Amino acid sequence: MSNMEMLTKEQILEKLTGNWAGKSVLVLEETDSTNIQCANLAAQGWPEGTLVAAERQWAGKGRRGRSWESPSGTGIWMSLLLRPDIPADKASMLTLVAALAVQKGIQEEAGLVSSIKWPNDLVMGQKKICGILTEMRSRENQPEYVIVGIGVNANMTEFPEEIRETATSLYLEKGEKVDRAKVIANIMSAFEEYYKKFLETLDLSLLKEEYDSRLINLGRQV
Ligand code: BTN
Repeated sequence: MSNMEMLTKEQILEKLTGNWAGKSVLVLEETDSTNIQCANLAAQGWPEGTLVAAERQWAGKGRRGRSWESPSGTGIWMSLLLRPDIPADKASMLTLVAALAVQKGIQEEAGLVSSIKWPNDLVMGQKKICGILTEMRSRENQPEYVIVGIGVNANMTEFPEEIRETATSLYLEKGEKVDRAKVIANIMSAFEEYYKKFLETLDLSLLKEEYDSRLINLGRQV
């Protein structure tokens, strides 16, 4: 991978247009899991909006205890730290808030329209393009912090045979590489917008219109 293609903190900061999400950012060349590193920072008192991204994860976590393949240089592997003042049982909805933000972010940068596959995948033509893993530490039904971990298949030119039928990338869909820093910056600013709306109601009513039009399983039995 040439230096030009490597993700850097400077590239992300330069492209951010929002107020807080991603303003405090750490880009690691490799790590176990950005969710783990972000949780460490959370425990050390880092602020809401802290973003940890990595070129490669060697113990990337998927849902239900699965591992998440995170090869070097092509993906967007990142975790956002939140400290919402909400009941802990509302926090799982943040996954959906993030899914909407990713959807908007990739549409803006790559012109690609993806669909939300309940509860927390983004797909294009039935193939997965993004997975989200939200983790939380709470006390007395109050989150101390929430980590929203986002994995976007960005510039992979191919996938291992086992997942070739079920996974796709922005590159494969668009036919050219995307600017990962720009995608990240877009996601951060969309997240700020949707998170604000979510915190006003603690349900998805303000996001419903957007959500309904994008949830492919809506109206189907899942
Ligand atoms: C899933 O679909 O199973 C969720 C996958 C979540 C992967 C992302 S990559 C960045 C962050 N760090 C992790 O270890 N996992 C999430």
